[in-house]
Amino acid sequence: MSETKRLVMGISGGSGAILAIRLLEMLQETDWEVHVVITKTGEQVIEHETEYDFEELHDLATKVYAPEDFFAPFASGAYATQGMVVVPCSMKTLAGIANGYSDNLLLRAADVCLKERRKLILVTRETPLNLIHIENMRRVTLAGAMVLPPMLTMYTMPTSVDEMVEHFAKKMLDELGIVRKIVG
Ligand SMILES: Cc1cc2nc3c(=O)[nH]c(=O)nc-3n(C[C@H](O)[C@H](O)[C@H](O)COP(=O)(O)O)c2cc1C
Repeated sequence: MSETKRLVMGISGGSGAILAIRLLEMLQETDWEVHVVITKTGEQVIEHETEYDFEELHDLATKVYAPEDFFAPFASGAYATQGMVVVPCSMKTLAGIANGYSDNLLLRAADVCLKERRKLILVTRETPLNLIHIENMRRVTLAGAMVLPPMLTMYTMPTSVDEMVEHFAKKMLDELGIVRKIVG
């Protein structure tokens, strides 16, 4: 019997909520389960920056969990997942992960990925960076996470923000090792 492909997605209150939404849309073209946890500020940023509201996320995910729900299955390492992406990852959430300070479900799920040596990708969003941000990125990298900032990509000659978002969403899928059924 084949193993269930299961991804945890954390959405925190950094700018770039559309990256999470586009990734969720692409994940619908796969056979992966996607378990989403979103922080309170993450919810607010989605509603501020995009045309989506928080409720619509429920249609794009296998299940959406509240940040205070430590009874979510992926709060335990015993629950098998193939890893986690945090998109966008605020500097506050980065700091929590870098320091093992798991006071919400997103932070706990990331901590579980590190302790179980599972894939953890952090789409960190801030510029410019101060030394604390850089040190926290260094710490999570040493602990096994990948820091994947949403950089502008010019070599694809983008003509719109949508194209840049699309390109970066595909990049996240590539790094997660997830293949879409419909490629486009
Ligand atoms: C519209 C908006 C955009 C924000 N963008 C960022 C950002 O790009 N990076 C960041 O580190 N914080 C950003 N913040 C601040 C974070 O939301 C704030 O530090 C919050 O405490 C993060 O909490 P969380 O990581 O638990 O979601 C933004 C806040 C708002 C309201």
